[in-house]
Amino acid sequence: MNTTLFLQSNVPDPYTIYKSMLEKNPVFWDENSKTWAVYSYEYCVEILKNPHALIPAINLNNKQKLNTYAVTILNNLVRLSNGISHEINREIACFLFSNMTSVNIDSIISELIEYDVIENKIDWVDSVCKKLPVLVVLKSFGFKETDCNFILEKMESLIKIMLPNKTQEQVNTINKISEDLFSIVEKQLLPLKFYHDLLQIKSAVLSANEIKTTSISNVIGLLIQSYDAGRGILSTSLLQILNNKSFSDKAEIQKSVIETLRFDPPIHNTRRIAEEDIYMGESLIRRNDPILIVLASANRDPQKFENALVFDIERRNNTENLTLGTGGHACLAKHFSISLTTEAIWFLLNAYKTVVLLENNIEYEPMINARLPKRIPISLK
Ligand code: HEM
Repeated sequence: MNTTLFLQSNVPDPYTIYKSMLEKNPVFWDENSKTWAVYSYEYCVEILKNPHALIPAINLNNKQKLNTYAVTILNNLVRLSNGISHEINREIACFLFSNMTSVNIDSIISELIEYDVIENKIDWVDSVCKKLPVLVVLKSFGFKETDCNFILEKMESLIKIMLPNKTQEQVNTINKISEDLFSIVEKQLLPLKFYHDLLQIKSAVLSANEIKTTSISNVIGLLIQSYDAGRGILSTSLLQILNNKSFSDKAEIQKSVIETLRFDPPIHNTRRIAEEDIYMGESLIRRNDPILIVLASANRDPQKFENALVFDIERRNNTENLTLGTGGHACLAKHFSISLTTEAIWFLLNAYKTVVLLENNIEYEPMINARLPKRIPISLK
């Protein structure tokens, strides 16, 4: 098995691999995949903060033959941009995010559970994790019910837009969804008061059309990030909280969510490409070399975290985990994600006094960058 780039579904315990790499090869050249893999906390931070370590391009010169709508979305996403366009896209994405109104999470989650529960059982992943974060974002922007349902239904196919390689079928589906989605978001966003403020604020640097396409694309980007990563944090947090019984009050749940992000994160790695030669300790990463940044390994680096292999919600520096990134591309939804997960799990464990995990052998999705449980069946009483 390739120990650098592997599917999380094939590996019962990736942390033993990370531990051994951390001890022997904290900066490792993998000849098979022609990729550098960085395992230590110190070097992961160094790469994440290095302005010459760029986000790799997806769909260069539209090799994947996406349509205009899908290409526009990809080209404007803050998550995928570099340099000056990253700065502009990030300002717009942060502005949009900061203008989300607050919504009642309890009523959304309780409806989701009631809708799916059969004989006191639900699959936490299908019923809540895949829907709650996306619905909260949509409702915060005021999307109406029919649009929410349409978008929720398409999310699984839409997120494939982020894949570096896509099948023809995936391209066809993305093309089909993108035009409808673009016009639904446009219709909802443009009349909002804060959008008019944005037009004023950015009119000196961007045309009205550029502001429009960047804004629409990044609302769609927020939905994409919410679907995958939001699903992940809700899934692994519930697993750890039930296993460790660390749910006596809301504060303990919040600490457990943060420690889950360190100890058993849903996102395991992210990627960069060297824009110029970069020295890491003894190693020379050459210009154009791809780099895998193994965040989940850095989170268990004993140089950074005491008793790193132990789930300990009281450790003083748990918030310094790298699961939500750091540096210029750090996740802009860090507090949102932690607080949404805390509220959702607090609601669940209050509404139902006994929540029991019905499966000990959790299976994971066949993904390289994320460790997402496929199903988490639970009983609720
Ligand atoms: C739930 C809603 C979420 C939204 C809307 C969201 C949105 C974003 C956005 C827009 C970026 C790009 C920032 C930039 O490039 O400047 C980003 C980066 C990132 N997010 Fe999130 N995020 C969410 C949740 C999460 C969660 C739960 C995790 C981890 C479990 C996560 C992990 C990351 C990481 C690692 C990056 C940086 C990637 C890199 O540096 O390569 N995000 N997020």
